[in-house]
Amino acid sequence: MKKDKTKVNIAVFVSGNGTNLQALIDAQKCGKIPSAQIKLVVSNNKNAFALCRAENENIPVLIAPRKIDDFEKEVLPRLAEFDIDLIVLAGFMSILSADFVNKYKNRIINIHPSLIPQFCGKGFYGLKVHQAVLSSGQKTTGATVHYVNEITDGGEIILQKEVEVSSGDTPQSLQEKVMREAEWIILAQATEMVAQRILREAKL
Ligand code: GRF
Repeated sequence: MKKDKTKVNIAVFVSGNGTNLQALIDAQKCGKIPSAQIKLVVSNNKNAFALCRAENENIPVLIAPRKIDDFEKEVLPRLAEFDIDLIVLAGFMSILSADFVNKYKNRIINIHPSLIPQFCGKGFYGLKVHQAVLSSGQKTTGATVHYVNEITDGGEIILQKEVEVSSGDTPQSLQEKVMREAEWIILAQATEMVAQRILREAKL
C-alpha cells in the first residue's frame, strides 16, 4: 500500500496491560496525534492484555519471542514491511540492543514512571520505581518521555510532568496516580511532537 506522507507510521512495543497504548489509541481517535498513526503493536508477551486493546481497534499485532536477539531478528523485517518511522515503547519490559537502537536512531521513544534522572536505569521498573520514591520521602515524582539510546533511560528527555506524592500513598496508588496524571498525557503529547519533527525533517 502507498505510504501516506502526511503521517508518521508508529509501532507500539508492549509487554503488559497496555494502558499507555490505550492512551495513544484514545488520543489518536480524538485528533490529538494528527501527525501519526498506529500501524502495528508488537508484544514480547503473548498474554499481554495490550494485545486485546490493539485487536479491539483492528490494529495488526505481532507476538515476538522474549529473548531479545530472537525478538529483534523477527521484528526488524516486519517494521520495514509496515513502513514504520517511529517506535513507541509503552510498558515494554526488555532492553533493546545497541544495534537495534542505532538502526532507529532518534526514532524510538520510551515512557518511564519517574522524573529522570531520578529513580531510573537498571532495576527501576514497575512498582519498584514507586516504592523507591516512597522510601526516599520525596514529595514529588512524575513521568518522563525520552529518546531511547544505548544507555537504559539515558536518552534525551522530550517531556516530563510532575505528580504530587501524598502521605497515604502506597506504591500501587502512586503508580496509578503517575499514570493518570502524567504518563497517559505526556506520552501522547511527546508522540505528536516527535512525529512533527520527523515530518519536518522528511521535507528538508
Ligand atoms: C508504565 O508505568 C510505564 O511507564 C512503564 O511500565 C508501565 C506500563 O503500563 N514503562 P501499561 O502496560 O502501559 O499499562
